[in-house]
Amino acid sequence: MQVQQNNRSFESVTVNPEWCFNNVRSVEQWTHGYHRYPAKFLPNLVKKLIEEYTDKNDLIVDLFAGCGTTLVEAKVHGRKSIGVDINPVAELITKAKINPIEPDRLDKQFDLLVESFDSFNFKDYVNIAVHERIDYWFTKEHKAKIAFLYDKILTLQDKSVKDFFLVSLSHVLKNCSKWLQSSTKPQIDPKKNPSDPFTAFQSHTKKMIKKNIEFYKQLSEKKYLDTKCEIRLEDARNTSIRANSVGAIITSPPYVTSYEYADIHQLTAYWYDYITDLSGFRKNFIGTFYSLNQEITCDSTIGQEIINSLLKKDMRTAKEVANYFNDMYAVAKEMHRVIKKNGHACLVIGNTTFKNVKVKSAEVFAEILTLLGFEMVEIIKRSIPYKLIPTIRDKKSGRFSKLKNKDSKLVYPEEYILIAKKV
Ligand SMILES: C[S@@+](CC[C@H](N)C(=O)[O-])C[C@H]1O[C@@H](n2cnc3c(N)ncnc32)[C@H](O)[C@@H]1O
Repeated sequence: MQVQQNNRSFESVTVNPEWCFNNVRSVEQWTHGYHRYPAKFLPNLVKKLIEEYTDKNDLIVDLFAGCGTTLVEAKVHGRKSIGVDINPVAELITKAKINPIEPDRLDKQFDLLVESFDSFNFKDYVNIAVHERIDYWFTKEHKAKIAFLYDKILTLQDKSVKDFFLVSLSHVLKNCSKWLQSSTKPQIDPKKNPSDPFTAFQSHTKKMIKKNIEFYKQLSEKKYLDTKCEIRLEDARNTSIRANSVGAIITSPPYVTSYEYADIHQLTAYWYDYITDLSGFRKNFIGTFYSLNQEITCDSTIGQEIINSLLKKDMRTAKEVANYFNDMYAVAKEMHRVIKKNGHACLVIGNTTFKNVKVKSAEVFAEILTLLGFEMVEIIKRSIPYKLIPTIRDKKSGRFSKLKNKDSKLVYPEEYILIAKKV
């Protein structure tokens, strides 16, 4: 659909079935299934964007790379790519997912690691100090086994193999802890029987090994093993990417106060020494509930109307949304800096409702892009067939919740793909 500028509402845009991928399961292909990650991209969607909006020699960038879906797909298509994310756990997962390992080498290291389990002695690890939060989430026995496993992995010389096993261990930490399995919120499940770390690690690593073989084979057959692909631990508002160098940005920004990535990834972050306290870790995440910013104005007219409506209902929510729109403005500016002339920005973004006010993030983003010198090329609406993001919010708190909660309300059943061109 060709669009006119200054679109105030995308509600009349109809769902485009070509972008819904109702019966296509691509989430387990290649290395995509290595680690759970909230609001992960559907790989098919990224594949289609790459095929329709990029050329062979284009550099593809994802400024909110998360667990690296865009980068994996870029590599499969033989396109150079750079990902950026503020979350060190995302950086680790992505590194492992984009760097397939020569299968025999990996097998050997895995066998050695599993053999070493026989030397585990609970007494050697019973009193080790990691972090008080680790003692909160894990039983003594499981904590000791994880500490042992972590030590063994750290002694490995091969960086790619080390990252591969660290990702496997990171993925199973939740299963081995008391964390309520079905929840992205940090809460203890008093009835849970946590998995044994050695068993869970072995089982998940075996699945990853199979996927590594497929990915390695595909890339070596296509001669894409050395295609440039890197992840940078940076802020999307201020990156080290060269100006005017990017053919296409394919990204999905964080939603406003929905996922607290810092909280969700705390088990890995504490175990792997990425953080010592959560509050410092949280504050650089865009869309966080814990932002310290106090603005109530923004540069988008549509955004300002939304903030004004929220101000009448609740100051705190109004500030959160204003912060979010201002962060989006800074990200759009960075996009404009790095994209080359005629290059595309492809953004996947959903709208939501807070306190009965429609927070039209997609419309706001489109307005900001236009203000900054992009031309809107297409606005695609898609329904979300897979539960990659929850579609329920608590009406009172605005946080994601369970359907059975009587205060819950449907959000994000549809999302938009905005395609803008730098003119
Ligand atoms: C919706 S997720 C992206 C998921 C990704 N498309 C995937 O397939 O995994 C949003 C990401 O934005 C990241 N993020 C939040 N604030 C950021 C910032 N200031 N700079 C860079 N990344 C940020 C979060 O860590 C999270 O990984």
